Amino acid sequence: MQAKTPSESATITTDIVLPGETNPLNNLFGGELLARMDRAASISARRHTRRVCVTASVNNVAFNNAIPLGSVVTLEAKVSRTFKTSLEIFIDVWIEDRESGNRLKANEAIYTFVAVDERGKPVEIPPIIPETEIEKQRFEAALRRKQLSLVLAGKMKPDEATELKALFS
Ligand SMILES: CC(C)(COP(=O)(O)OP(=O)(O)OC[C@H]1O[C@@H](n2cnc3c(N)ncnc32)[C@H](O)[C@@H]1OP(=O)(O)O)[C@@H](O)C(=O)NCCC(=O)NCCS
Repeated sequence: MQAKTPSESATITTDIVLPGETNPLNNLFGGELLARMDRAASISARRHTRRVCVTASVNNVAFNNAIPLGSVVTLEAKVSRTFKTSLEIFIDVWIEDRESGNRLKANEAIYTFVAVDERGKPVEIPPIIPETEIEKQRFEAALRRKQLSLVLAGKMKPDEATELKALFS
C-alpha cells in the first residue's frame, strides 16, 4: 500500500457558535465541540484510508479555553500516525478574535479511528510519512498514546506497554 503524508488528510472546518450550542455560561457546550471534532477527524481518517472509519477512542481532550457564543471556530484535523488498521488523528481548535481576526489556539484533541469493511471488520490501511517538525513529534509520541489507550481500555497488559514503561525507566 502506498504511503501518504499528513497533509493529504488535512481537514479544515470553520463554523460559528450559535445560542442552542452553549452552556448556561454562554460558552460552547463540551459535547458539541466533541461532535464537531469527531466529524472533522472522521473526514480526515476517510481521506487517508478511503475506507469507512469508526471512532475507537478519544484519547485526549484538553478544554483549556472556553469558546464564547458567537465565536468563529476553526478545526484542523490531520492523521498523525497509522498502525495496522487504526490511525491517530490530531485536532487543533482555533478561535478568531472578532476585531483583529487573529487566531488563538483554544483546544486540542486526539482521536483514534479504525478502518473497517462492510461487516465492520478492521482492515489494513496505508502507512504515513510525517514531513514537518510537529508532524514528526506527534508521530513519535503516538505509539505511547496508543499503548496507554489500550492499557486503560483493558486491551493490553501494563507489562506489554514497552514504550510507556520506557518513559519511567
Ligand atoms: C473499534 C473496533 C472496530 C475495534 O474492533 P476490535 O474487534 O476490537 O478490533 P481489534 O482488537 O483487532 O483492534 C483493531 C485496531 O484498533 C485498535 N484499538 C482497539 N481499541 C482501541 C483503543 N481503545 N484505543 C486505541 N486503539 C484501539 C487496536 O489496537 C487495533 O489497532 P491496529 O490494528 O492498528 O494495531 C470495534 O470495537 C468497534 O466497531 N467499535 C465501535 C465503533 C463505533 O461504533 N464508534 C462510534 C461510537 S458511537
